[in-house]
Amino acid sequence: MNRKDFLKQVGFSGAAIFATYCMDGLSGCSSSGLSPASNVDFTLDLSLAENAALKNKGGFLIKNSVVVAYTTQGSYVAVTQVCSHEGRQEVTYRSAQNNFYCTAHGALFDTSGNGLNSEGRGGLKLYNVQLTNNLLRIYS
Ligand code: FES
Repeated sequence: MNRKDFLKQVGFSGAAIFATYCMDGLSGCSSSGLSPASNVDFTLDLSLAENAALKNKGGFLIKNSVVVAYTTQGSYVAVTQVCSHEGRQEVTYRSAQNNFYCTAHGALFDTSGNGLNSEGRGGLKLYNVQLTNNLLRIYS
């Protein structure tokens, strides 16, 4: 009898078995997470009110599962919202620290997508950005 069969026999449901496996940190858990999009290509018109957050340093917005930030250093950076830790779509930008942060378990990334702690060691997918007049293109 393997572990899964044993858990079923003692009354664990499928969801409970999955949760038990994840709490143990077994490899099957990460497969449930999302992957960063590889075919990103969209343009934000910075003259529109809906994109006003990107007119001020430290501002950011999320579109198409991409976090687009105008960093406190004055550059545009775009990264996936999908965290490399367990694939949760919870990455956001923090202007006070000028870094990216995943609210799920605290992974930290710098503005180049490099991990800054153990949860962030897998890095963050970075997308290209190109500013032409008021048009900010984000693409992979
Ligand atoms: S999914 Fe765990 S820190 Fe992001």
